[in-house]
Amino acid sequence: MQQFKALQVSEDSEGKYSAIVVERNVDELPEGDTLIQVNYSSLNFKDAMSFSGNKAVTRQYPHTPGIDAAGTIISSTDAGLNAGDEVLVTGYDLGMNTSGGFGQIIRVPAEWVVKLPSGLSQKESMILGTAGFTAALCVEKLLNNGVEPSQGKVVVTGASGGVGMIAVALLSKLGFDVAASTGKQAAHDTLSKLGAAEIVDRNALGEENKRPMLKEDWAAAVDVVGGDTLSNVIKSLRYGGSVAACGLVQSANFSATVLPFILRGVNLLGVDSVLLPIETKRALWDKLGSEWKLDQLEDICSDIGFGELDASLAQLLSGGANGRFVLNLNS
Ligand SMILES: NC(=O)c1ccc[n+]([C@@H]2O[C@H](COP(=O)([O-])OP(=O)(O)OC[C@H]3O[C@@H](n4cnc5c(N)ncnc54)[C@H](OP(=O)(O)O)[C@@H]3O)[C@@H](O)[C@H]2O)c1
Repeated sequence: MQQFKALQVSEDSEGKYSAIVVERNVDELPEGDTLIQVNYSSLNFKDAMSFSGNKAVTRQYPHTPGIDAAGTIISSTDAGLNAGDEVLVTGYDLGMNTSGGFGQIIRVPAEWVVKLPSGLSQKESMILGTAGFTAALCVEKLLNNGVEPSQGKVVVTGASGGVGMIAVALLSKLGFDVAASTGKQAAHDTLSKLGAAEIVDRNALGEENKRPMLKEDWAAAVDVVGGDTLSNVIKSLRYGGSVAACGLVQSANFSATVLPFILRGVNLLGVDSVLLPIETKRALWDKLGSEWKLDQLEDICSDIGFGELDASLAQLLSGGANGRFVLNLNS
């Protein structure tokens, strides 16, 4: 029987959660037609939620989190997948209620699998991971809604996080004038190097403001924060502007009046990276490996092994993360 190493989170009888690295058996993995040797995973906000026992993400423990995985096919009954093929899996149920990428082997349906784009290494694909893929989805949504660099500044909230940093870099690569909203002084340099032309203090955008509309500051926005930040962004979009909303680190709730929508014609665009049809995922991953390939991926990556998982996930959960953590499953 094939054994592999995995992080396992368990719940005790008092509802407390703890995690240890264990040897698991392939037979314990859920059903699926494709077995993958995982070489790299990455850390996302959702992993930190699963790790800390958030039942909205993971219903049953013991559980191995990890919503991202890159590696090679061990075996598959799918005609399009052969042993040794380099692949990645992000989203769907991976790491939520299906044993995830914080284990050296996963078993998943072939319909979740993306062939590694030729322009990306396995590690690079995980520096991007769900966060980078979501940033790309946000940018694509803005472009599809007619947002162009000539229209003015685009603000990215939660800019020092995974989605935020990659959104800043992608928008800048595509010629946009980018303002990065962050609460971290230590991230200013990196954000400027990624292409941010302006740094905005996150408190300036994140405090409740009762006025129904604000000064028209932004042609568009990528918002990972939700809450009062999203409310303020909607109120400060320029006429016809759009915000791609994908996150909730401040709050899942936000308040709004219809005024920005009916007086300025602004657009609130929802972004989901999880249940997106696989063909759409494959096409966007190919773009991230070709015309949208970022040169700075290694600069925003912290390399970790199993031993650093606890501390790194705690950092993510507290909003203290800077860029992306990549987990090397062989270290
Ligand atoms: N819709 C989807 O498919 C999808 C996919 C991926 C992620 N997400 C969501 O997107 C969000 C960001 O994910 P991520 O991976 O980028 O997380 P992350 O790496 O933890 O980054 C989040 C960033 O938000 C800022 N922040 C944290 N707490 C805050 C608070 N209370 N108020 C205001 N800003 C705060 C911090 O940046 P600064 O210090 O720079 O302000 C932090 O680094 C999460 O809510 C995640 O669940 C959604």
